[in-house]
Amino acid sequence: AEESGVTWRGTPVSSLPFISTANLNIPPVFVAPNHTVLVQLPVTPDVCPAPQPPTYSDIWDQFHVRMPCSPKSLYPLGKGSDTVIPRWSIICKSLSRKMECVEDLQRAILEYNSRYAAKWKFRGLQMLLEEEFEEEEQEFFFQNTLPAMVRLALNLPKIVTQPPPLLTSQTTHSITLSQLQIASLLANAFFCTFPRRNAKGSETEYASYPDINFNRLFYPREKRSMEKIKCLINYFRRVTSKEPVGTVTFTRQYINPQNMPSWETCSKPLPKLHVDTKGLIEEQMGLLQVDFANKYVGGGVLSLGCVQEEIRFVLSPELIVSRLFTQVLDKTEALIVIGAEQFNKGVGYASNFRWAGSHKDTTPRDPWGRRMCQVTAIDALHFTKQPKIQYRPNFILRELNKAYAGFQVMEGSSGTPVAVATGNWGCGAFKGDSRLKSLIQLAVCGYIGRDVAYFTFGDQKLRNDLSTMHIFLTENNVTVGELVQVLNHHGLRDWVDGSDLSHYIYHNLGAYDSETDNDTEESKVGMQFCL
Ligand code: AR6
Repeated sequence: AEESGVTWRGTPVSSLPFISTANLNIPPVFVAPNHTVLVQLPVTPDVCPAPQPPTYSDIWDQFHVRMPCSPKSLYPLGKGSDTVIPRWSIICKSLSRKMECVEDLQRAILEYNSRYAAKWKFRGLQMLLEEEFEEEEQEFFFQNTLPAMVRLALNLPKIVTQPPPLLTSQTTHSITLSQLQIASLLANAFFCTFPRRNAKGSETEYASYPDINFNRLFYPREKRSMEKIKCLINYFRRVTSKEPVGTVTFTRQYINPQNMPSWETCSKPLPKLHVDTKGLIEEQMGLLQVDFANKYVGGGVLSLGCVQEEIRFVLSPELIVSRLFTQVLDKTEALIVIGAEQFNKGVGYASNFRWAGSHKDTTPRDPWGRRMCQVTAIDALHFTKQPKIQYRPNFILRELNKAYAGFQVMEGSSGTPVAVATGNWGCGAFKGDSRLKSLIQLAVCGYIGRDVAYFTFGDQKLRNDLSTMHIFLTENNVTVGELVQVLNHHGLRDWVDGSDLSHYIYHNLGAYDSETDNDTEESKVGMQFCL
């Protein structure tokens, strides 16, 4: 089959349900107690929506992003001075000076981050811009892109006229922003203007939030970091040369643990499966695309990380703004992003990742200006220290519930639930077993009523095994509950290392006759005597 060019098994991906104007399986945008909309509604197609409220209205508290332009954000006038002035005035002054090299940029940024003067070094950024870039590229950056980014950043109070709320633990809440608002916030992140976001330590105000200021990304001279910066520079070039017109919604989806499914008793059938060695999750237009996330969304995107999540975040940099307001994800929570646009192409993976040019996203938009692209961030458990414990029922339950939080159809969506585009969730950096995790994801999708498109990232054996297993389970009419039961039983035995998982399932769920079973028992007992 491989030679004939057919790389997949199961149901063709084109016949799985996807989001379209005819199947709007995403919630509409309207202002509600659990939905903060930072733009004026209704949205006009191809027009950048105006901010809501029309002029800046400050809030400075623990429930909202502390905006760099807040008059309440104060800073000492000079080194050791007792007089404090609005930090924004220093930011505006520093960034308005002409910057012709990375050193100028670094000096400007440190004027309002003086505490880090000895710590922050932009060696990676310098190497990229001043050594790797051709002279024209360098000139273009300092003469065009950078000044436009400064304008975008300093226009923050005109563009983002209310501080976004923080998406805090154990709440379901959505934020809708325009792509321009996101660009302005990200330009501020590039210039490291967000207050209180640099201090480290468990006692600091934002200890349970991901980093947002870009300073850590500018330090390493690793190739992959520079390739990620190229993605971001291309993004800023694009949004400053042509104002983006759409919107993006970020939803923290919390499921009360008391409302979690009773997995073992679910009598629903397993979903349809498309399983493919070729294709990437981010290429699956209209499906619910899984982000193999860190509980701090975006993981190492602003430092050295460069696997599925980080790559996804630099291809579609608007995803990065989620780090500004998404508190660390709890066990039964996910972050779902609707409408992020892909600006970059990438090739390679991890240390071989490379920026492969600008990408023109042609995904159609919904009536609120969002690209019909939906990404769900779910953080698997990491089994880097003790992979064997993942088979235990309590860990299986944790992963079932986490996937449920990420795959559950959002309130207010109409139409048919779209298929989930996923793959080896938790099975790379986090060292999970793809044979187990794929079945967990199938069970959750069966419960919800979503089909599955599984991308094995080139692994032919996994594709074949998964396809065979799926055929076996569906031919035997195995339900979600029966599958979860057998996974739990498998993990309850002594000496479990997962190596016999498939065998255990075939043996325990198959329609085999009891005589064969007796033989097996006998031979086992016999074996014991022999030993
Ligand atoms: N499409 C489909 N499959 C993919 C893709 C893709 N684009 N990219 C990778 N894979 P990993 P984890 C496959 O390690 O184990 C990050 O730092 C490939 O087989 O990214 O859940 C996060 O921030 C790969 O080995 O996910 C977390 O901190 C596998 O998916 C942490 O990694 C797993 O990808 C999460 O690690």
